[in-house]
Amino acid sequence: EGVSTISLKVNGAVRAIRAEPRVTLLDALREYLDLTGSKKGCDHGQCGACTVLVDGKRVNSCLTLAVMTQGKEITTIEGLAKGEELHPMQAAFLKHDGFQCGYCTPGQIMSAVACVQEGHAGSADEVREWMSGNLCRCSAYPNITAAILEAKT
Ligand code: FES
Repeated sequence: EGVSTISLKVNGAVRAIRAEPRVTLLDALREYLDLTGSKKGCDHGQCGACTVLVDGKRVNSCLTLAVMTQGKEITTIEGLAKGEELHPMQAAFLKHDGFQCGYCTPGQIMSAVACVQEGHAGSADEVREWMSGNLCRCSAYPNITAAILEAKT
């Protein structure tokens, strides 16, 4: 009862799941589609570890109902690389050591991609402001900022 088909276009492929309408996009990705790159840090919109893009805009997938994203383009960390070739933002994070434990990194990178795409990477201050919703317990912030500033070019 209460279970219906939810059709999601994730990283270019349409996939259908059977779930209750209250299932979050984060749980749909992780538990139904086995895309575990997006992390569940707080599940309350406060850490950014679950950040994905929906029609190019970043969202906290823990606060987004999967049903609301039907018909939209969802991009997760798994969808960034092209085969063996890393997305420029992934390469920049590697080059600048933009992570330590790595738990927050998928969300950081998705936010960072949106930062550049939406034109918020004009200065270190601007980047820090845009990225302020993505928490990093290891405090890799200076390296993350450096990576984004490089990747925007
Ligand atoms: Fe979504 Fe923390 S898990 S913001």
